[in-house]
Amino acid sequence: MQQVEKKQRENWGSRFGFLMAAAGSAVGLGNIWRFPYLTGMNGGGAFIVIYLICVFVVGLSIMTAEFAVGRRTGLAAVGAYKSYSNRWSFAGALGVLSGFFIMGFYPVVGGWALAYAFKSVTGLLANPGALGDAFGAFITSPVEPLVWTLIFLALNVVIVAKGVAGGIEKAGKVLMPTLFVLLIFIIFRSVSLPGSGAGLTFLFKPDWSQVNGSTVLAALGQAFFSLSLGMGCMITYGSYLNKKENLPSNALLVTSMDTAVAILAGIAIFPALFAFGMEPAAGPGLVFVVVPSIFAEMGGAGVLFSVLFFALLVVAALTSSVSLLEVVVAYLIDQKNMERKPAVYASSGIMVVTCILSSLSLGVMSGFTILGVGVFDFFDILTDKIFLAIGGMLLAIFVGWVIKKEDLKDELTNGGTVKFALFEAWYNLTKYVIPVAIAIVAISGITAIAQKSLMIFGLLVIVVLALFSKKL
Ligand code: TRP
Repeated sequence: MQQVEKKQRENWGSRFGFLMAAAGSAVGLGNIWRFPYLTGMNGGGAFIVIYLICVFVVGLSIMTAEFAVGRRTGLAAVGAYKSYSNRWSFAGALGVLSGFFIMGFYPVVGGWALAYAFKSVTGLLANPGALGDAFGAFITSPVEPLVWTLIFLALNVVIVAKGVAGGIEKAGKVLMPTLFVLLIFIIFRSVSLPGSGAGLTFLFKPDWSQVNGSTVLAALGQAFFSLSLGMGCMITYGSYLNKKENLPSNALLVTSMDTAVAILAGIAIFPALFAFGMEPAAGPGLVFVVVPSIFAEMGGAGVLFSVLFFALLVVAALTSSVSLLEVVVAYLIDQKNMERKPAVYASSGIMVVTCILSSLSLGVMSGFTILGVGVFDFFDILTDKIFLAIGGMLLAIFVGWVIKKEDLKDELTNGGTVKFALFEAWYNLTKYVIPVAIAIVAISGITAIAQKSLMIFGLLVIVVLALFSKKL
């Protein structure tokens, strides 16, 4: 039966609740797992400088824009676009698809973190020399990581089924601040190891010779990924926000917190990494090898800290993955008139399949590739290197050229009751500079990257969505 009357929109319980939910969405595996290893693979300091520019010029503007669109329309991604023009609904649909794709690998890594919280107690740290091999053996084994991934997914289902204010908000409030404190503690341990200075040099002394088009695209994609932008996630969260909140200042706060956590994670990891003589470009295993190594040096107390660290990493990952699932669920609720629970079960059912394939692609299924990459990389590279950036570009064009300037001003100043001194700067940046900048970075990145056919496939997907826009 079709539902006719408009359902009462859920709302955040408090300002702090929203802030923690939005920051919780932003701070996640992207900051602690992905940022350090990307930095390591892209040569350190120079990557960080480019990343910071992407975050504060592009990311902050897009986050402000997403909050404004979400709250203005009171609708999640697809609905928000649609309420202005049917032709634009593909931009929202691209976001929903990105949500599915990110949820095709994110829970796998979330599962690793969950497993490591338990393994910390069962002797993981006993043999520090073997931590690298242990990680490789774990993620490539056929069954064990699947179990953890499914547990992680199940936790998402439980939280999102309860609804935004109930489940998502509570999870972030206490645990996010705790993670912050623990990171500071790890930093103290890490920088006090002999030989750690080289790590700080690596992080803060840019080596520009390492930079090319694909570095810049990687930094831009990471900025979007880490800030949860470019797929309507912050549109959706903004739609649950009441009219009194100051949007630009919330965007600035979330962006700053997210960036602070990423940089702290870098400072926690690289000094220790150099002290232990490990490889900065080691890739996705970085946190899972370096952090336990730091704790292994500490004896008995290290076990405790290791459990705590990975448990908090799980929480950080959860407050992010629920926001991804929420985008998909909100689409089904708003556009397909589904009830919350069936929407959660249907979408997570598909994610179970994609995650299993992703996890297996690192081990037994490593021979199976799509357009030159395994399933895990397929989801990861497509979203991070293309969908999010293009999604952000579309949003910037939409905000700059479709929505009326007065309406934006009204929304961002709460009807003129709060100040947004940088409104003109934000508006012109979003309307003219960001779309062009993203286009340039995307083109030069795609020409420099190895997985060209995958990139072209991604662009084709976007074109197809645009053609079928009216049906979405
Ligand atoms: N930002 C999260 C992280 O850093 C991941 C994430 C959550 C995300 N929601 C998103 C990424 C929306 C892109 C878009 O772990």
